[in-house]
Amino acid sequence: MEPSFWHEKWQLQQIGFHQQQVNPFLVKYWSQLGLVEQTEVFVPLCGKSLDMCYLAEQRHRVLGCELNPLAVEQFFTYNQLTYQVNNVGEHGLFSADEVCIYQGDIFTLPHDITKKIGGFYDRAALIAWPETMRQQYANALAKLIPASVSGLLITLDYPQDTLKGPPFAVSPDWVETHLAPYFEVELLECVDVLADNPRFVNKQVPWLNEAVYKLTRKS
Ligand SMILES: C[S@@+](CC[C@H](N)C(=O)[O-])C[C@H]1O[C@@H](n2cnc3c(N)ncnc32)[C@H](O)[C@@H]1O
Repeated sequence: MEPSFWHEKWQLQQIGFHQQQVNPFLVKYWSQLGLVEQTEVFVPLCGKSLDMCYLAEQRHRVLGCELNPLAVEQFFTYNQLTYQVNNVGEHGLFSADEVCIYQGDIFTLPHDITKKIGGFYDRAALIAWPETMRQQYANALAKLIPASVSGLLITLDYPQDTLKGPPFAVSPDWVETHLAPYFEVELLECVDVLADNPRFVNKQVPWLNEAVYKLTRKS
């Protein structure tokens, strides 16, 4: 989606993607990555997700990237984190002790910013892109993730013709075809979450699968 789409969503606070709880898949599977304390974890398209608080509670250093400044400010304000703002090139860098967020476009984030990460977490980032832009995002993500680094990817899949995204449907086949050139791909779990999503129920979407993958960047 174009930046203007997301800026308008944040301005109007039409942020149905934002979860009031930490994602259960994150809690269930994060330890499988085996990351030690102080590992830096990259969270692309992070919004104001509470999942970043969970990662910080695991004593990781969180490095987010988010386009919209209001989202970033709300993250720090709502979580009562004192932060500083600096400019780094065209990005704003919002920093607190445990969490730093680069505010700006992920496509222009310099690659050296993520060169020390030891993990990553993509929830509602890959699925935020329509199919026409998804590969471009996957390429950008792959460039930002150093070799051997693992992360979790959480996707949704449903019959795309029954609902206009975002979120857009991403099938296991798409993940295998388009991410396997860059990442080792392991499907950890896939569950039908239709009953928990009234927007999809109301549009008579017949099924809605949420999947969590472990991805490890190939050399
Ligand atoms: C569907 S939301 C998901 C947010 C977060 N991952 C979560 O789970 O709540 C997608 C987010 O990506 C941000 N975004 C969209 N395009 C972006 C870009 N080019 N660079 C950085 N962030 C972007 C949007 O502002 C929005 O907050």
